[in-house]
Amino acid sequence: MVITGVPAEKGTCLAREHFASRLGFILISAGCAIGLGNVWRFPYMVGQYGGAAFVIIYLIFLLILGLPIMTMEFAVGRASQRSIALAFNNLEPKGSHWHCFKWIGIIGNYLLMMFYTTVAGWMFSYVPKMATGELAGKSPDQVAQVFDSLLADPVALVIWMVVACTIAILICGLGLQKGVERITKVLMICLLAIIGVLIIRSVTLPGAQAGIAFYLAPDFSAIFSSPDNFFEACYAAMGQAFFTLSIGMGSMEIFGSYIDKSRSLFGEAVAIGALDTLVAIATGFIIFPACFAFGIQADAGPGLVFITLPSVFENIWLGELWGALFFVFMSFAALSTIIAVFENILSFAMDQWNWSRRKAVTINLILIPLLSLPCALGFNLLSAVQLPGVGDIQSIEDFLVSNNILLLGSLVFVSFCVYKKGWGWSNFLAEANTGKGLRFPSWLKGWMMVGVPLFVGIILVMGWTPIIQTWLGLS
Ligand code: ALA
Repeated sequence: MVITGVPAEKGTCLAREHFASRLGFILISAGCAIGLGNVWRFPYMVGQYGGAAFVIIYLIFLLILGLPIMTMEFAVGRASQRSIALAFNNLEPKGSHWHCFKWIGIIGNYLLMMFYTTVAGWMFSYVPKMATGELAGKSPDQVAQVFDSLLADPVALVIWMVVACTIAILICGLGLQKGVERITKVLMICLLAIIGVLIIRSVTLPGAQAGIAFYLAPDFSAIFSSPDNFFEACYAAMGQAFFTLSIGMGSMEIFGSYIDKSRSLFGEAVAIGALDTLVAIATGFIIFPACFAFGIQADAGPGLVFITLPSVFENIWLGELWGALFFVFMSFAALSTIIAVFENILSFAMDQWNWSRRKAVTINLILIPLLSLPCALGFNLLSAVQLPGVGDIQSIEDFLVSNNILLLGSLVFVSFCVYKKGWGWSNFLAEANTGKGLRFPSWLKGWMMVGVPLFVGIILVMGWTPIIQTWLGLS
């Protein structure tokens, strides 16, 4: 790969690392996007909002909001050749303050990891539970109790969280090409292979057709049954489009800074968005046919994966094997996101303070598990810590990132790329369109200036309204 250096005020003493291959870039960016959002949030939202009708609404938002914003992040990264620690400093007009966003962005990365590592730990812990038959012969109520006991056990939650943090950060410690790129490539290829095996198992179960029909045939009646239902489904679909692509906090921007100019960026964003969507939709093909085959409710909400599915696997021949494989798949998806976000956190420290990778790894190996403690303990020892209208510590952290930082950060990237007072539309377009592949549609400028802020504003207002109503005692 051609290494393009850009002068930076800081961070110049360390040579910039780059990906070894385009496949590495695509799989790592997709790995950052593919995570609990695809394999946990997406299926239960599809279940709750009526199947394929929700999928269609989600795809529209992914296309009109997610992909253009991801292209902008890549463009800022590739043009600056730096993480958000210095990207805005390098590209902004002199005297402007766009670079201040880096602090909000990096807080977003830490906040995401502060709850994500705990939930990833749940996935990890279910692999031995399924493989050893711990859930065998248990009724759905008993399986629910196993999940509740896990949440009530601070030691188990903390151990699994530390395991998730340590594995990911040690992989990042091996370096960009030898660690992050090499291992994420293997994880992603295994993940795609496991999905294939599990889909074949699920859709060939007797009675699976009803689940496939629920998933594929759009039934808009539930969504259109009232304006409230429609807006609620749109709100969920928009939020999911931002969460699943991890846009708005620089965790995609960093991967733009590791690539050369041989490919246009919109084309790369479309490939990554397509892989992300493929995994989300494929997970549905594992879950829904299996639920319908065993007469289990598909709209079970967040517990779908931990309570409903283990009961499903128990009823299948070689259930331990399929169940363990399912949670290996979930763990790989979560781990690929953690590795990618950790890489951004490390790169931020290396750019901002000229730290070596080793120093950034050592400090974060202690810092990230410490910061993740409140979430792990929030399900047990700290369960009294609740924010009215939002919920426990995990919900508060999730709300801060998913409903605020990702949205506001996306607005910052869009404004920076669109307005002359930032980097400007022509600079953005020139960067995005350099190289072979799909061109970014220049006529999207009006949409980016008006449509995106409008939709982001709507999501922000819809997210805050019920909370403020609760605070004011109105609901
Ligand atoms: N993009 C990550 C996910 O979907 C955060 O889980």
